[in-house]
Order: sequence, then structure tokens, then C-alpha cells
Amino acid sequence: MVTKICCIGAGYVGGPTMAVIANECPRLKVVVVDQDEKKIKSWNNKSLNELPIYEPGLKELIENARNKNLYFSEDIDKAIEESHMIFMAVNTPTKKTGTGKGFAADLSNVEACAKRIALKSKSDKIVIEKSTLPVRTAEKIKEVLKKFNKKNNFEVISNPEFLAEGTAIQNLYKSDRVLIGGENTDSGKEAVNALVQIYKKWIPESKILKTNVWSSELAKLASNAMLAQRISSINSFSAICEKTGASIQEISKAIGMDRRIGTEFLESSVGFGGSCFKKDILNLVYLARFYKLNDIADYWHNVVKINSFQMTRFAKNITNYIEENKKNKVVSVLGWAFKSNTNDSRESPSIYVSSYLIQKGIDIKVYDPMVLEERIKSDLNDHLVSIGFKLNQVNKLLKKVEIYKSLEKAVRDSPIIAIITKWEEFQKFDWDLYIKHRKNKPFIFDGVKVIKNKGMTNIYSLGN
Ligand code: NAD
Ligand code: UGA
Repeated sequence: MVTKICCIGAGYVGGPTMAVIANECPRLKVVVVDQDEKKIKSWNNKSLNELPIYEPGLKELIENARNKNLYFSEDIDKAIEESHMIFMAVNTPTKKTGTGKGFAADLSNVEACAKRIALKSKSDKIVIEKSTLPVRTAEKIKEVLKKFNKKNNFEVISNPEFLAEGTAIQNLYKSDRVLIGGENTDSGKEAVNALVQIYKKWIPESKILKTNVWSSELAKLASNAMLAQRISSINSFSAICEKTGASIQEISKAIGMDRRIGTEFLESSVGFGGSCFKKDILNLVYLARFYKLNDIADYWHNVVKINSFQMTRFAKNITNYIEENKKNKVVSVLGWAFKSNTNDSRESPSIYVSSYLIQKGIDIKVYDPMVLEERIKSDLNDHLVSIGFKLNQVNKLLKKVEIYKSLEKAVRDSPIIAIITKWEEFQKFDWDLYIKHRKNKPFIFDGVKVIKNKGMTNIYSLGN
């Protein structure tokens, strides 16, 4: 019987997922480990406002289970040794060097975990792929486990995560499905069943889908690709709307009312951000090319290309406006998180738009209710370095960035405002009153349909 589990990787997936398991399975000992000492310290911080991740509902779960049956620790080896089941929820970014650079997933973290599990295990283990991985990674993991440990048996199971940030806890409690891919052997089925027993505590069995390992691995990539494809599709229509007088909100509604299409993921935006959509599609592109399916690779690559097009299109609209109207080169950028209700800014459209603006000599005034100042600066720094700027050039460009602690201060006296993240604070802000009180009326670029007043002038509303 499984009584002790651990999760390697205390990030956006490992932390919330294990918090839910610990709350729903009070008899199970759950240890979340990470090589990042600072992160573990934050997870153990007495103040629940200092947790490394912001997710609605997470604080309460941590408060309820921490140091009862949920532990955060740096002692990875001990956790491996004493656990029956080990989840791997480490990051799998796009490779920066070597074969597949710029497309394939970098599996070094996963391989390092597999090696460590093999070396530190003194009994049989169930190893669970929680990270998003290319199809057939389980084979590689098995090879590593076997190479470094000849004594014990390891069952490798794929159990991809489908939570979305900002709604992670809600998604984990009310999952559309839990996907478990295992081998069709007696020990494989036994391992799958052990994991089913955990999820069954709060997920109806009808929603637990068992498949073979490869289907499970590929289904995760396919799901993200399909979701991102919907966003690129609707964003492509937003550009056509602007040329033709159609409205993207009306188009989304009309399309979404067809039950076969459905209403979700049809909201046009400055582009999709987040750590996964782009990386997972690029990984899919790599996979397709690897199997010589070049037309399929091109098809999916275009989803990412349309996303870049949309972000640049938004930024270009701003610079064109400044040039045509001879405005002061100052823009307030509202929102840095890649979506609302998260402090995560990985691949946020704000990074791309801001980087474009400062390269065009524009000063930006940034405000986000959740993302810290040093994170905003480091995001821009890393992005500018990644596109080839030298350190001294980056430092010069970063001087054009001012970060504000309140919305009011960030927009004060700005000739131009760009709204990129759909934070509730921006939706609730009294834009009418703000405009009324300004002598020189600012121009607002609303990329996420925050401003509801249809009569407002001096506004560019994306897709209209
Ligand atoms: P993250 O960067 O937030 O967390 C990963 C953690 O793993 C980091 O804290 C890192 O220090 C740790 N780590 C890396 N290598 C390690 C090692 N060898 N030993 C110990 N710790 C190690 O990443 P994330 O957002 O939680 O994503 C994790 C995986 O889950 C990725 O494959 C991602 O594609 C997938 N995923 C993410 C989300 C999401 O919403 N973020 C949703 C579904 C799936
Ligand atoms: C996404 C998927 O929704 C999750 O199922 C998946 O588990 C996760 O990726 C992952 O593998 O990491 P996430 O990126 O956290 O989750 O958030 P989403 O809600 O999917 O939003 C992604 C981006 O798309 C955001 O920038 C959001 O603003 C944008 N978006 C979303 C739109 O532009 N329009 C929409 O209609 C929906």
C-alpha cells in the first residue's frame, strides 16, 4: 500500500498538486522537494503571504496540511528513499543548445531526477511523469533507472497535469479528466491502480481515464496545442475585424454558440503567454519533424508564429499612433503577469510588447498588482539578452523602464496606456472618471477588453 509519496519540483505544478493530494488524503505523507533552497524556505514561511506561488485558494490548503501530512524539504535523497511513489514535476524548458535547439524539450532535469531516484532507491518505486514530456520519454526514463539501479523494480507512469494557473486549485478539485498512462503488464496495472486510489478520494472514477503511456504523453501536448490553436485562430480574426468593421467579441459569441465549437478559449488577446503553450507546441513541431512529418510541423509552427504576429501587431499599433500623432514617447503598461490571478510572468505578452516599445525609444511605466519589480526587470533583461543585445545595451534600455506600485501612479500624466493583462483591478477602475479629470486626454490601447464603455473615444480596443 502506498503511504508515503514525494514530488520532485516545488513549482507551479508540484506545490498546488501536492497541496490538494495532502488535503484530500490525510493518511498519506506527502513531501515536496526541490533543489532550490530559497523556494523551499518560502513554502515553509510562517507567513502564508510569502509562499512562492500565488494561486487563489492555495494558502488555505497549505495552512491546513503543512507540517501535518504535507512537508516541504530540500532533502531530496531522504524523500526518494522513504517514498513508495515519486512524482516528477520539474521544469522542461525549450532546449537552448544542442540537437533540437529552439524546439525540443530540455529533458536534463527529468533525466537528473531519474538518475537520482535510481541511485537513492533501496526498494521498488512507482515513478510518475507529472512534467509535460515528449511522447516516448518514459522509455528514456526507464533506461536511466535501469542503468543506475539493477536491484529494484521501477514502474513508470504518465500522469500529465492539466491545471491552468490562476485557477489551479479549482482545476485540481474539479478536473475535467485525470489521465493516467501505464504499461499493460501486471505490475504496470498495479501501479496505475495505486495512483487511481489516490485520485479516487475526490475525483469521480468516470473522470479517470486510463490509456497506454504514449497516448497519455502525447495527449498532453495535443491538448495544449489545441487550446493555443484556438487562441491563434481567434486572434487571426481580430486582425481581420479591425480591417473590416466586424467586432471580435461578436465573432467569438457567434462562433462559440455552435455547440460543436463551444465558448471557451475564444477570447482574443495580445497573445497567449505562460510557460507552456509555446514550449509545448515547439516541442510538437520538433517531434513532427523528427518523424519527417514536415507539413504537420509547419501547421503547428504557424500557431506560434501567429501569436508572435499578434504581440508585434499590438506593439506596432502603439508606435504608429505615437508617430502619426507626434505624442510624447511614454506608455503606461498595465499588467505584467501572463494572465490574471497569478504572479507568473513567464512568456508574458507584456515582455514582448514592452521590449518592442523600449527598442523604439519609448519610456514605459509598468504596473502589475502581483509581479515583483525585480521580476519585471529580470524578464526584460533576459528577453533582450536572448534576442542578441549586449549587456551595456540592455542596461541602457532598462533605464527606459519605471515600475510603479499603484495603478493611479502608473497612469498619471501618461499620454498612452496599454492594457495587456485582464486583472480585475483594471476592469473595476473607473476609466470614465479618470479620463474626465485629465486635461490632456490619454489614448488607451485595450488589448484584453477591460474597458466596457462602448461610447468612449480615444481608445483602441483590440479586434474592433
Ligand atoms: P516550475 O519552474 O514552476 O517548477 C519546477 C521546479 O523544479 C523548480 O522549482 C526547480 O527548481 C525544480 N527542479 C528542476 N530540476 C530539479 C532537480 N533535478 N531536482 C530538484 N528540483 C528540480 O515549473 P512548473 O510550471 O511547475 O512546470 C513543471 C512541469 O509541469 C513542466 O513540464 C510544465 O510543462 C508542466 N506543466 C505546467 C503547468 C503550469 O501551469 N505551470 C501546467 C501543466 C503542466
Ligand atoms: C494552459 C492550459 O490551459 C492548461 O490546461 C495546461 O495545463 C497549462 O497550460 C500547461 O500545460 O502549462 P495556463 O497557461 O496556465 O494553462 O493558462 P491559460 O488559461 O491556458 O492561458 C494561457 C494564455 O492564453 C494566457 O496568456 C491567456 O491570457 C491566454 N488566453 C486564454 C487567451 O488569450 N484567450 C483565451 O480565450 C484564453
